[in-house]
Amino acid sequence: MNISRDYATGLLKKYVKGDYLRKHSLASGLIMERLAKRFGENSDQWYITGILHDIDYELVNEDPKQHGVKASEILAEEGLEEDYIKAIKAHNGENLGITRERTIEHALAASETVTGLIFASALMMPDKKIASIKDKSLKKKFKSKSFAAKVNRDIIREIEKTGIELSEFLSLALEVMKQNESLLGEGNEN
Ligand SMILES: [Fe+2]
Repeated sequence: MNISRDYATGLLKKYVKGDYLRKHSLASGLIMERLAKRFGENSDQWYITGILHDIDYELVNEDPKQHGVKASEILAEEGLEEDYIKAIKAHNGENLGITRERTIEHALAASETVTGLIFASALMMPDKKIASIKDKSLKKKFKSKSFAAKVNRDIIREIEKTGIELSEFLSLALEVMKQNESLLGEGNEN
């Protein structure tokens, strides 16, 4: 059984209340959707996997040992397929002792992490818009260790395990987020 996009959006709204976490979740889903199209995978289910990956984050009070575990319980109950649940758990593999191996696992970890770099870059723009970020400047910010230092570059680079070059991935993620500025931008509530 698969969950529909609308149903997944309802779950996101039910469990994730913070504005930033919601936008982070939506952005992750939109990038995952684009990657799925590129890989010929199920874009709806990849989108859903992206938007629901942090569904338990507020619930477990950011406890790193519970994050992903609780989500997998909730999502198993809701009927999300095991393959997607496993990917969600694996995005917190560092804390749960799981090694990411499948394409979808690398894709989710890289996608959710790159959103942090792009949101932080938008805040540096005079108008705070994602649309104002230049592709070249995003790539520079990726290399600058002091910029958004908490954003783990190694996890973003994990995209290369899927066969996509880092530079292409950064462009793709930025493009997707620009196209969805109305959902993701400053001042827009979801
Ligand atoms: Fe996340």
